[in-house]
Amino acid sequence: MSTLKAQFITLEGVEGAGKSTQKEALCRLLDANGITYIETREPGGTPYAESIRELLLSHADDAPSAKTELLLMFAARAQHLETKILPALESGVWVVCDRFTDATYAYQGGGRQLPVDWIKTLETLVQGMQRPDLTLIFDVPVEIGLARAGRRGALDRIESEDIAFFERVRAMYQQIASQNTDRVVTLDASADVDTVTETMITVLMERWNLSCHPG
Ligand code: TMP
Repeated sequence: MSTLKAQFITLEGVEGAGKSTQKEALCRLLDANGITYIETREPGGTPYAESIRELLLSHADDAPSAKTELLLMFAARAQHLETKILPALESGVWVVCDRFTDATYAYQGGGRQLPVDWIKTLETLVQGMQRPDLTLIFDVPVEIGLARAGRRGALDRIESEDIAFFERVRAMYQQIASQNTDRVVTLDASADVDTVTETMITVLMERWNLSCHPG
């Protein structure tokens, strides 16, 4: 049983980076080590925030402007953080969250090219000093990621953007990683799934001083 304070872990990457599969492997590691956690995601994670997700990702004739999209991401995040993430962490439960504010920097800042200062201001407003303890960025060349995402089925509104958009998203994730080396670990997600998993497990076991390997 870990004696660490409850950790807030986020997973990030362009579409098709394999986050979902690696999230399952991460959760098996936590299970094997007797760690209590919740799994959640953004945008969404609570009924109210999931309604905002629906608005954000559905194809509509009157699609939101980039600024509306940004504000809705943070509206969903405020609700999610206040009603789910913080109560869990405060009661000692770890949080594994599929995407968080780095996605806003990457997609709205990088992809949509909105001013990063706007995102910083909203981040402070909504989160105060709260940041993830650990962020795993699954990095994959955009064309590989999009081909994998396309094979999963119909693309949502944001997944339907062009290659140049996702190149900017990826570049912003790489910039975030280089500027936050204590918090962010980048994993090469172009490797085969088992290799990515094994690398991730090794990094996490060392970081948290865990003894039980899930495999
Ligand atoms: P998902 O496909 O990983 O569930 O993520 C939903 C989409 O929302 C994905 O295309 C990335 C996008 N997104 C943003 O554009 N900004 C954000 O802040 C978040 C959390 C997600």
